[in-house]
Formats: sequence, structure tokens, C-alpha cells
Amino acid sequence: MNNSPIGIFDSGVGGLTVMREVMEQLPYENLIYFGDTARIPYGSRSEQTIKKYAHQCATLLKNKDVKTIVVACNTASSIALDDLQKNFDIPVIGVIDPGARSASTVTKNGHIGVIGTTATINSGAYQSKIMDYKHDAEVIGIPCPLFVSIIEEGWEYSNVAELTAEKYLTELFEHDIDTLVLGCTHYPILRYTIKKVVGPYVKLVNPAFETAKDLKQLLIEKNLLNESYELPKYEYYVSDAPERFRRIGGNFLKKEINNLSEIAIDNL
Ligand code: DGL
Repeated sequence: MNNSPIGIFDSGVGGLTVMREVMEQLPYENLIYFGDTARIPYGSRSEQTIKKYAHQCATLLKNKDVKTIVVACNTASSIALDDLQKNFDIPVIGVIDPGARSASTVTKNGHIGVIGTTATINSGAYQSKIMDYKHDAEVIGIPCPLFVSIIEEGWEYSNVAELTAEKYLTELFEHDIDTLVLGCTHYPILRYTIKKVVGPYVKLVNPAFETAKDLKQLLIEKNLLNESYELPKYEYYVSDAPERFRRIGGNFLKKEINNLSEIAIDNL
């Protein structure tokens, strides 16, 4: 069991920002990544559809005998995590709780911004988790749906990215935030532009980093750490367009993507 892989899924390439952190913090773990590239974006879909898709992604990974599942998608974590935890008999963790916890400890003035997809922000998941950890926090959620397309075009350092960030994020200044949660798996790629817009005094929280930390803790507690120190195996699956995934994903992961296959998901 201990050398069984960890399963990680997202609606597409974005979850690779989480996988990158897991590779760094858990360098001996075997990993299987699934990106539901045929059905991205999840962020503009209904709750019912997001739950169905998340269930199918988790089933696909479970069928590959993973020992634990990381929901490396903020949208799926916001909407479907509870269902997945109820329906699967292995540990399932998402990105919201680690990100919210970190934000609540990082903030000094209690004014916290959260940016994410429309579904993530509308679900209120980050807002209520942060309030659980810090009752007197003021949390301002702003959906930034265009960021995903800008990043997938590779325009993260462009004027387009900066203007879009200004348009979305100016409202945050009125609330005097000192902490901003990057509540979408793609956004860490855009962090330099976001930082330029929000300024040096706003701290950015990357839930991907925090999630990998929590995952490590979970594996230790459940006695699931891989104790073999062999080179780990990484496998990737997508539901569509593997070549696009390889190209964009390589940029997210900062390494070449091998062992990549296309796999059908709709009938799971
Ligand atoms: N991976 C999604 C998230 O973190 C963003 C892309 C999508 O909308 O599916 O919310």
C-alpha cells in the first residue's frame, strides 16, 4: 500500500501547480495525475455537473489503486469535496482548507481577498472556511474567470494580463486587504503580474504549497508514506488533447511530461 501512487486530479493542466509542490515536498512518492481536459472549465458549470465530474475523476484514480486522492482543483474542492470524502474509502483532500488556514494566520489586519473561478467564489467555500479559522476576518471574494484563458495562452507576463488584473483587482484596494488567496490552480502562474498590481504589502497565499504540506502530514499520520527511496514514477492521463497538455503542462510543471495517455472518462 505504501508505495501505491497518490492520485491528483484537476479539470485540466492547472492542478500541475499542485503536483509540482507535491513532487518537491514528497520526492519519493509515486504520482498519477488526471486532467479532465475534455471538459475544462469546471469553473463556469453548475454544482450538479461539477459533482458528477469530480466523482468520475476520483473513480478513475481509485481504479488505478491510488492510496489517497488530492482534489487539485479549487472549483471541485469547493463544491464536491464533502461528497468525495463520503463516497470513497481512501483519504481525499482538497485545496480550500489548507489555503484558508494559511490566509487566516498570514493576515495581520484581518482583511483577506480571495480570487478564483465564478463557481469557487459563488460557493462561498473559502469565505466560510476563513471565517471558521478567524471569526472577525473580512473576506472579499472576486471571480476572475478570464485569468484561466490568459494563462493557457501563455500570456501571463503580457499587458493583457496586467490590464485584466487591474480591472479585477482594483476593488480589493477599497477593502485594504493585506492577504490575497490565489484560489484557482492556474493563478500561481500569474503571481508576478498579480503582485505587481496589488503591491508589495499584500501577501499572496498559494494553496498548492499548503496542500502539499497537509498531504505530507496526512501520509505521516496514516502511516502511508512511501518508505522506498527509489526514483518515483509519474504518470499522466487526460481526457482530450494530450499534445496541448504536454506543451502547456510542461510550462506549469517546469519539466517535461512523459508517460502521458488519453483516457475516456464519460462512462465511469
Ligand atoms: N482548475 C480550476 C480551479 O482551480 C480552474 C479551471 C476551471 O475552471 O476548470 O478552480
